[in-house]
Amino acid sequence: MSTKTSGLRCAALIAFLACMLACGGGSNTTVNTPPPTPQTLRQAATAHGINVGAAADSQYLSDSGYAMVLGTEYSQLQAENEMKFGIIHPGVSTYDFTGGDALVAFAQSHTMAVRGHTLVWHNEVPTWVTSGGYTAPQLSTILQDHITNVMQHYAGKVYGWDVVNEAFNDDGTLRDTIWYDQPGIGFAGLGTEYIEQTFHWAHAADPSAKLYYNDYNAEPLDAKSDAIYAMAKDFKTRGVPLDGIGFQLHIDLTFDNPATLASLTSNFQRFAALGLELHITELDIRLQDSSSASLAAQAKLYGEIAAICVQQPSCKVFQTWGFTDKYSWIPGAFPGWGWALPFDANYQKKPAYTSILNAL
Ligand code: G3I
Repeated sequence: MSTKTSGLRCAALIAFLACMLACGGGSNTTVNTPPPTPQTLRQAATAHGINVGAAADSQYLSDSGYAMVLGTEYSQLQAENEMKFGIIHPGVSTYDFTGGDALVAFAQSHTMAVRGHTLVWHNEVPTWVTSGGYTAPQLSTILQDHITNVMQHYAGKVYGWDVVNEAFNDDGTLRDTIWYDQPGIGFAGLGTEYIEQTFHWAHAADPSAKLYYNDYNAEPLDAKSDAIYAMAKDFKTRGVPLDGIGFQLHIDLTFDNPATLASLTSNFQRFAALGLELHITELDIRLQDSSSASLAAQAKLYGEIAAICVQQPSCKVFQTWGFTDKYSWIPGAFPGWGWALPFDANYQKKPAYTSILNAL
């Protein structure tokens, strides 16, 4: 027997013995190996068919800590700003896809989904539009072209879009905007018809994209969520291509009471009953200090909201607005507040992270 043959036999014997040990083969003994404990939010969420996401900005991808956490912990990203009208379409016939493309490339190289944000919004409308003196028919053409060009650029790369963002006031009336009634795209005073029109344009632009309506202060049962529900029910009844609702959830610790959480659960249930997906799109829980008591209270509330998503089969996205306190929008918008996200400014996991992981 050659040395080579003898070596092969020896290797085969070792492999056989290793398999006997690892697989429990050759006996009736069953080895009850527990499933591996999820190590990342992404692993945990995948088990429930939930995309766990974060808003992101391409300018931070060169920060190695940022890229590491985003690419390993999350299965989805969404542009915090770089797909908004003013950035992506800064001139009459000028589009700038640089930031959005960088985010898409990062997502693709980390096997992450990309959620698009946002096509129709009263905010971040560039001055060439707001100061252009356009008529309603002209604005209609501008908005349809915008939706079509942006969606077709990202077709096959962005799975779904916040087509319309924040169209309602807190009392349930429609917000006065350049797209609705100032002067609007031709449906001023006609309620949600202008929203319906944009969903039809979006569906025509990319028939395979999922289409969402996204808003804040509509998480519990309230006047705004009632108005969105009425619109959604009407759209579903008449076949308007609406796939789901985004619930932003920019909140503080006052959200943590049984009545509010029960109301959130009930609100989710009624939208789910319409056959819609529910996405938690912009969750952050702002604090006024970083004491261990505040971080623990924040962790508890993060866990409660993650659990509500897990328990609602139609909840398909659990996404925070950023992931590190280093780059959160909160301190700029709410002076004195901060510490709103699951990772601290040094990319260390906060109690909130562990609480979300456990809930998922
Ligand atoms: O890019 C410019 C930069 O060139 C300039 O030097 C700097 C000076 O202030 O401004 C930069 O633009 C800012 C942009 O964020 C990017 O950082 C804008 O001023 C600022 O208004 C903008 O704020 C964003 C805000 O939406 C308005 O678009 C926040 O980052 C973003 O977190 C926030 O996100 C919104 C969602 O889209 C919708 N739901 C609410 C949520 C929070 O407000």
